[in-house]
Amino acid sequence: MEKKDITVLAIESSCDETAAAVVVNGRKVLSNIISSQIDIHKLYGGVVPEIASRKHIERINQVIQEALTEADRQLDDMDAVCVTYGPGLVGALLVGVGAAKALSYAAGKPLVGVHHIVGHISANYIANPELEPPFLCLVASGGHSHLVLVRDYGQYEILGRTRDDAAGEAFDKVARAIGLGYPGGPKIDRLSQDGDPDAIDFPRAVIDGAPYDFSFSGVKSAVLNYINGYSMKGEAYSKADVAASFQKAVVEVLVAHTMLAARDYGIDRIAIAGGVACNSALRAGMERACQRNGYSFYMPAPVLCTDNAAMIGAAGYYEFRNGIRHGLDLNAVPNLKL
Ligand code: KG4
Ligand code: ZN
Repeated sequence: MEKKDITVLAIESSCDETAAAVVVNGRKVLSNIISSQIDIHKLYGGVVPEIASRKHIERINQVIQEALTEADRQLDDMDAVCVTYGPGLVGALLVGVGAAKALSYAAGKPLVGVHHIVGHISANYIANPELEPPFLCLVASGGHSHLVLVRDYGQYEILGRTRDDAAGEAFDKVARAIGLGYPGGPKIDRLSQDGDPDAIDFPRAVIDGAPYDFSFSGVKSAVLNYINGYSMKGEAYSKADVAASFQKAVVEVLVAHTMLAARDYGIDRIAIAGGVACNSALRAGMERACQRNGYSFYMPAPVLCTDNAAMIGAAGYYEFRNGIRHGLDLNAVPNLKL
């Protein structure tokens, strides 16, 4: 007997992207609509939670409709409605969760709540149809820097995490300090192309007894001190050299800790995920390190690294297959644990 396809509608609204997608069997994306609020938030130098919630409310129904239309499917064709319910901004999450519950109730479709980080990891299933657990995934975004051992679908072990700033947060703060604006990651990435990554020796933090953990507040402070030193003397510094040297310091640590964990846990498949996985130096550095060690390397296309709903559909499919169902009492959980 032929296996029936499972088609899900997925919704994501945890931060500043209002997104909806239609995904088949966790791997095939029929539509992936993303309405970004970046242009509004960049006026304020970062995401303003109240504005994010309001914009989600304005956009969500249309984004969902566009996702169904582009996929050429009706709500009734869906096998489930999947939605990010945490972690994230509570007011932002609530908009997606509310919309998903309403659709689930109205159409009589199962509701599946999805963890945002599991979504980021699952973007790799879309990009690589052959990828199966176990594998190691570095999730680096604006809110998280986790080294996750994916033992099986639905089975995650966090091997390392950041002690302070997330990697993307460090990119955003350094970018702001050198006057590049929000979001800083892509801007530092671009400016680094014109700079010398070996110009300044910024610190690489190692944490005693926690070899896979990260800390980015030290490198961030070192950059701020460097800049202040110059401005106090009234001298100019090379922004491109600061960007490139900072980026190198962060990327080296991300790659080194991932390689260490892979070796210690005997894992030979490595994936990256989250907004920082768009970073060209990280993509190149991780690929080189994997080649050197004989590991297979996986990375989603940039549009699947930053927040989107296709990744939630991929994750939601495997949760659905594992029997996960949520009731209409599903709530947003801003600090949801993995
Ligand atoms: O995954 P994401 O879209 O949202 C969160 O879940 O946080 O990640 C956004 C983060 C921001 O901090 C942004 O600066 C960073 O990802 N980012 C990058 C790049 N593109 C986005 N960081 C470094 N290099 C990039 N090319
Ligand atoms: Zn994210």
